[in-house]
Amino acid sequence: MTEKIRIAVGSDHAGFALKESVRHHLASRGYEVEDCGVHSEQPADYPDAAEKVAVRVSRHEAERGVLICGTGLGVAIAANKVPGIRAATCNNTLLARFAGEHNDANILTMGGRIVDEVQARRILDAWLGAKFAGGRHEERVQKITKIEEQVSSGRSLKQG
Ligand code: RB5
Repeated sequence: MTEKIRIAVGSDHAGFALKESVRHHLASRGYEVEDCGVHSEQPADYPDAAEKVAVRVSRHEAERGVLICGTGLGVAIAANKVPGIRAATCNNTLLARFAGEHNDANILTMGGRIVDEVQARRILDAWLGAKFAGGRHEERVQKITKIEEQVSSGRSLKQG
């Protein structure tokens, strides 16, 4: 039996309803879903959800992550602070496809106030179905990792 791919999902209050829908969709597609919260529409700060999901992915405790806030922007900004994370806000299927094919995005973010449930499912399927193209895109992704390594080791970045 092949092991299920684990996807960590999280949201703030503005993404809660869509996160619930996404969670069910992923489970119905055969993924193992880890719900990192939130569990209600009580106001919650989006960086908290972003950190939880991003750390799971960064530690390889989940293969991928999905984060939802009002726009998809705040959770992406926060998640991208965690080493190894390439979070992409994809509020349409074309972005989702390229986030997978070109950027090897390991976290997808969406806006609960921007996309509806049907759009969100299509976006997820486009991202999960996309295959990283490698080649020149691999080299570019490696350059992103290099920037991250330079920053974390305190080495100076390229100027000008
Ligand atoms: C919360 O109102 C909203 O600011 C948040 O969900 C998100 O859209 C931030 O980027």
